[in-house]
Amino acid sequence: MFALGALVVFSLVGVVLDRALEAELRQHQLEQIDTKFRDIEYVIKRLRQPAQWDRLHAKLDALTPADRSTQYWILSDDPQIRYGQALAEITGISQGAGGIGELRIGEHAEPITIRSEYLPADGDRAALRFVVGIDSASYMRTRRAFESVLLAISACGVVMAAALGYLIAHWGLVPLKRLSEEAHQLSPSALSQRLNVAPLPAELSDLGVSFNGALDRLEAAYQQLEGFNADVTHELRTPLSNLIGQTQVALSRERTVAQLEDVLHSNLEELERLRSIVNDMLFLARADQGERPVRLVPASLAAEVAKTVEFLDFVMDEAGVKVRVQGDVQAPIESSLFRRAVTNLLQNAIRHSRAQSEIVIDVTAGETMAQVAVSNPGPEIPTEHLGRLFDRFYRVDAARTNSWENHGLGLAIVKAVAAMHAGNVFAASHDGVTTVGFSVAMQRGAGRAA
Ligand SMILES: Nc1ncnc2c1ncn2[C@@H]1O[C@H](COP(=O)(O)OP(=O)(O)OP(=O)(O)O)[C@@H](O)[C@H]1O
Ligand SMILES: [Mg+2]
Repeated sequence: MFALGALVVFSLVGVVLDRALEAELRQHQLEQIDTKFRDIEYVIKRLRQPAQWDRLHAKLDALTPADRSTQYWILSDDPQIRYGQALAEITGISQGAGGIGELRIGEHAEPITIRSEYLPADGDRAALRFVVGIDSASYMRTRRAFESVLLAISACGVVMAAALGYLIAHWGLVPLKRLSEEAHQLSPSALSQRLNVAPLPAELSDLGVSFNGALDRLEAAYQQLEGFNADVTHELRTPLSNLIGQTQVALSRERTVAQLEDVLHSNLEELERLRSIVNDMLFLARADQGERPVRLVPASLAAEVAKTVEFLDFVMDEAGVKVRVQGDVQAPIESSLFRRAVTNLLQNAIRHSRAQSEIVIDVTAGETMAQVAVSNPGPEIPTEHLGRLFDRFYRVDAARTNSWENHGLGLAIVKAVAAMHAGNVFAASHDGVTTVGFSVAMQRGAGRAA
């Protein structure tokens, strides 16, 4: 490519230079012929006595150089006036009206540039035609020499450009080659390995840094996935062990029908819990794959919240807490998803509320988002946990809370529902009040939040 580029540049420059030289040489030649012509024409016009013609002929002889690169002719019917070499041949060639022209004398000779003029008879002098010719051979030689030098320079230039181009490309690509070799070494077993961007030139270090950024994100995702797998295994192993244990004990000796029924009831409960974990995980997996709500319908969020509260009222009665809903906003939601999120928030609030306290649900409108915030008086969540509340299987105090009843998936589902409505989640805990909530877009078609 470098060679091709150089070839194009050299050719263009060469053509332009050659044309310029040609024009310059031509101009020079014309000026030269014009000067010579005018000098002699001046004399001819003033010649009166026939004897003076011999002197003019002698002068023209003297002016004609040995190599005949400049030649003079005087064509006339008067033999005394006539002058020049190969007169018969010249006379045979039509001279036209006069001015600048070209003449070829002999078979193989180079063309001669001529300037001719017809001078009509004047007094005693017969009509004549005066011709000055300049041989273009020397000009042609200059031009040919120039052209061959130009050609040689161009050829050298192209070869050098090709060689330099090859070397530059070779040197320039060394870091890229090293980068690709490093990239080949990357594998899941060496997750923390990164490309070494320090020795890279500026043009490549950006690429290296972005690539390392991508590796960081991949590593984080990979570790999250591994953690998730570990959590899933852990969460499912305990209920399965319980089920197997209970069944083995039941089978170890003779049981009454009532006893077996008891065991089956207990097993059914465990199996239902297992199913709920699996269902929740399936929901999260689908949300991860970008599943969107089937149908967003504009609704009063306060009304949806009220319906959810109604559904849970017996749980609240049992816990001895009350719920107050404040504010209202209209927003497009999928009702079942929205209620699922509010249910999860309410269940948490009820579980963590002090007895006889009041849970407040605020429905407020922001610039583009509608927010649902559930606040309950209760034990505060330490700040370091706030950021991780929405992670799957995350419980603030897994040992103390009834880890069998609760799996730590509730808030992860709230987050997924918020994302499906292009919204986000938030949590705060201070002054003895914990507020957890989520937002949904008020306009349909808003992009899905990260
Ligand atoms: N209102 C709250 N007050 C205090 N802590 C809370 C509150 N809401 C959530 N938490 C803490 O956040 C953790 C995560 O909540 P999340 O709803 O995700 O899981 P969970 O309630 O433990 O289980 P699940 O909802 O799956 O039954 C809880 O274990 C609890 O420690
Ligand atoms: Mg919960």
